Amino acid sequence: MEEQLIDIKNAALSLILDAKDKAELEEIKLQFLGRNGTFTLILKDLPKIPKEKRPAVGQLANSVKITISDAIDRQNLKLKTEKPKQQKDVLDVTMPGHKPPLGHHHLITQAISEITAIFEKIGFTRVKYPEVEWDWYAFEGLNFPKDHPARDDWETFFIKQKPDPKKGPVILTPHTSSGQIREMERVKTPPIRMLNIAKCYRRQSDVSHSPMFHQFEGLVVDKNISITHLKGTLDYFVKSYFGANRKSRIRPYHFQFTEPSFEVDVSCGICLGRGCKLCKAGWLEMGGAGMVHPNVLKFGGINSKEYSGFAFGWGVERVLMMKEGIEIDDLRLLYSNNLDFLEQF
Ligand code: PHE
Repeated sequence: MEEQLIDIKNAALSLILDAKDKAELEEIKLQFLGRNGTFTLILKDLPKIPKEKRPAVGQLANSVKITISDAIDRQNLKLKTEKPKQQKDVLDVTMPGHKPPLGHHHLITQAISEITAIFEKIGFTRVKYPEVEWDWYAFEGLNFPKDHPARDDWETFFIKQKPDPKKGPVILTPHTSSGQIREMERVKTPPIRMLNIAKCYRRQSDVSHSPMFHQFEGLVVDKNISITHLKGTLDYFVKSYFGANRKSRIRPYHFQFTEPSFEVDVSCGICLGRGCKLCKAGWLEMGGAGMVHPNVLKFGGINSKEYSGFAFGWGVERVLMMKEGIEIDDLRLLYSNNLDFLEQF
C-alpha cells in the first residue's frame, strides 16, 4: 500500500506541474482527492492492513494528501501571478509607454514665480532674509514704539533664547519689512530696488489667516523718489498681475515705518469698480505701502536728506485669491497637502 501511495503522489505531482489553468487543477484535485478519487479509494483498504503497520501507513497517507493539495495551491498561485508567455516575450515598441505620475509646483510657488518675474522686468532684485529674526529688524529698527501691540506675544512668535543686548529678542518674522534694514545694510549706497519674498508668521488661524503665510515686499531707495514712483509701480503690478482692465488706488493709512502711509486697493475684477455683491464698494483691499520713514533710512545707515524711498508689502495668498477668483472657503486648505485640492491647479 505504501508503494501505491507513492505512485499516486508522483502521478499527481507531474500532472499538477503541467496544468495550464485553474479548471485543470480542479479536475486533478477531483481525480485524486475527490470522493471517488484514487487516493480516497485506496484509503478504504486501510482496515485490511495489519494493525501494527497502520499508524505508519496512515501517516504516509496524510503527508501524501498534504503534498498534493499544497502543490495544487502553489500551481494555482503561479498561474495567477505569471503573465502569459506570449506577452512576456514580445516587445511591441509601438505601444505607448507607462507615464510616471507627474507633479507640479504648489500654487503659492507658482504665484511667487509670477510675482518675481513681474518685478524683475522693472529692475527689482529678489533677496531672501532670515525667517528667524531679531526684534531690531522686525520692529525697533522700523520705528515701532516699545509698547506697540504687535511686539508682545499676542501677535508675534518668540523663540526661547536670551535676548541680544543690542538687537533684542529672537522672533519669527511677522512681516517681510524686516528685510528693509538688512537690504540697506547690504547695499550701503543706493540705488536699492529690493523684492523680498518670504514666509511670515503670526499668531492667527481662521478661514482667511494661517499662522504661516507669505509676503512680498518692495523697497526702492534712490535720489528724488516720490509718491508718483510708488503709484506707478503699484499700477504696473496690478495691470501685469491681475489684468489690463484693473486699477489701483491708495488710501491714507498708518504704519510706523512709512510716512505718509497708504492702504492699496485693486478694482474688483467682477464689477471693475462699480460695486457688486462680492466687493460691495468696487474695490478690494490688497495691503500696505508708503514712503520710507526718515528714521528707518537713518537706522539703515542712509542719509535721509540725500535719499528717499518707498516700500510696499502684500500677502502672496491674498493676491492669489483675489486674482483667481477661486472660491476657497478656508485659506488653510492651501497648506493641507490635500492632493485632490492641489492637483486642480
Ligand atoms: N509690513 C506691513 C504689513 O505686514 C505692510 C507694509 C509694508 C506697509 C511696507 C508699508 C510698507 O502689514
